[in-house]
Amino acid sequence: MKHVLVLHYSQSGQLTEILNNVVSDMVNHTELTIDYHKIEMETPFPFPWSKEEFYGVFPDTYKQNARPVKAVPKHILEKKYDLIIFGYQVWYLTPSLPTTSFLNTDDAKKLFNNTNVVTVIGCRNLWMMAQEKMKHKLKALQANLVGNIALVDNHINHISVITIAQWMFSGKKERFLGIFPKPGVAQKDIDNASRFSPTIVKHILKNDFSTLQNSLLEKKAVTVKPFLVTMDTRGNVIFSKWAQIITSKSEKNTPKRVFWVKIFNYYLLFAIWIISPIVFILFLFTYLPLYGKIKKDKKYYSSVVLK
Ligand SMILES: Cc1cc2nc3c(=O)[nH]c(=O)nc-3n(C[C@H](O)[C@H](O)[C@H](O)COP(=O)(O)O)c2cc1C
Repeated sequence: MKHVLVLHYSQSGQLTEILNNVVSDMVNHTELTIDYHKIEMETPFPFPWSKEEFYGVFPDTYKQNARPVKAVPKHILEKKYDLIIFGYQVWYLTPSLPTTSFLNTDDAKKLFNNTNVVTVIGCRNLWMMAQEKMKHKLKALQANLVGNIALVDNHINHISVITIAQWMFSGKKERFLGIFPKPGVAQKDIDNASRFSPTIVKHILKNDFSTLQNSLLEKKAVTVKPFLVTMDTRGNVIFSKWAQIITSKSEKNTPKRVFWVKIFNYYLLFAIWIISPIVFILFLFTYLPLYGKIKKDKKYYSSVVLK
């Protein structure tokens, strides 16, 4: 008998739906047991978000400053799992604060130690550097990352920015003004996540995960878009500076913090609408000279290897 743990956090339920499809073939399998745990914060994050809270969570998220998380039930903690399927979303180019907080707990240390892990990401479209941070966290927990699936909003970047903001601030996954597409991961991509299930089952039963990521890639588990890698990398350089500025200039829950977070909010809008199109044009100019590096990056970010 093989034991699987499905572990995740989700505000809207989008990631819950994705994970339920990813494990659809495991649920009634006679050779598998499956347990579920949903990460819960001692003080839950709001959903829908207010603007102040949404931007206010940036410094702690980016710096991975853990907040208190509810304990994992004993019956889960006492089990040794053959595979953990770990679902997380990206907040500010970083694994979301609930998931990094969870990975900081003693419960996580116990569960992840020497355990195989498949990460499942459900986000807007910038997950590559967050997954690098996740690789480091998993390594520190002595877990073995054996697979990664990343589901994203495939609409063009600026459309997805508009629609996700509407979703996060209203709590409704609806077509904005009736003209924009639905926000987040498309329903057909959520439903098709069940295609990964037989592949994962096959590898668990063989107890051999060495080729799992290649098998998942054949099923298009991950698409790496070179321009988004550039944006993600540059975004991280700029976010480190902003996280530093905000925390050095203001204390949490003070009017000064509210002020600096507002400045960051305006900067972010400027970066998305003005800077990113310029970076895109520069990227097009460098595409051919940098073609070799782009190809190498694509292969690396599709893999579960840590440089
Ligand atoms: C505070 C915050 C920041 C986010 N930042 C990013 C980001 O940097 N990159 C990205 O692709 N998605 C980002 N998202 C979208 C989330 O990854 C995710 O798709 C969305 O919150 C729905 O997840 P859920 O399953 O928790 O409902 C962000 C969401 C929130 C709430």
